[in-house]
Amino acid sequence: MHYWIEALNGDADLDGILEVEAESFTNPWTREMYAWELQNRSVCHILVVRTAECPVAGFCAFWLVFDEIHINNLAMRPHFRAQGIGTGLLHHVLAEAKELGARRATLEVRASNEGARRLYERLGFYVAATRRNYYSNPVEDALILWRDEPVAG
Ligand SMILES: CC(C)(COP(=O)(O)OP(=O)(O)OC[C@H]1O[C@@H](n2cnc3c(N)ncnc32)[C@H](O)[C@@H]1OP(=O)(O)O)[C@@H](O)C(=O)NCCC(=O)NCCS
Repeated sequence: MHYWIEALNGDADLDGILEVEAESFTNPWTREMYAWELQNRSVCHILVVRTAECPVAGFCAFWLVFDEIHINNLAMRPHFRAQGIGTGLLHHVLAEAKELGARRATLEVRASNEGARRLYERLGFYVAATRRNYYSNPVEDALILWRDEPVAG
């Protein structure tokens, strides 16, 4: 599947992101949460995956905080999953973070989200801590993952 990755570009992309959120998470972020994020563009970065047929096939939202990136959301529309695109997107995010001066990356993942955990572990993330009952709907532990050296490309 041919796809490309670009920085978020305006409200049309935000509509697409909210659709991907609704298709991917039991507690999706709202338009208001993203509007707040987007007022802080020096910290908040959002990359979207585009294909010829779909302007927002997936996305990743992350914060750049000093020399760390905090990956807040990563999701692909169901139709585009299991084709290596999520891996490509995360590679791209780590490479861009490195360009921005980041040396470490962190994120939280539901303990039961085995597909996402495998993806993160393949890209060098490791489990650093567990936050008990962190998630709701359903209640579940969060694993706190870190990666010490953002990869290139
Ligand atoms: C997590 C998520 C972003 C991964 O995106 P993705 O595009 O499906 O990721 P990839 O295709 O790169 O890898 C996923 C699986 O597809 C497999 N895959 C990769 N290329 C493939 C191909 N060409 N053909 C078939 N399978 C392939 C990978 O091996 C991987 O399998 P695994 O589960 O055994 O590790 C996506 O599943 C998603 O949106 N999930 C819901 C939201 C979510 O949980 N986000 C993470 C929150 S922390």
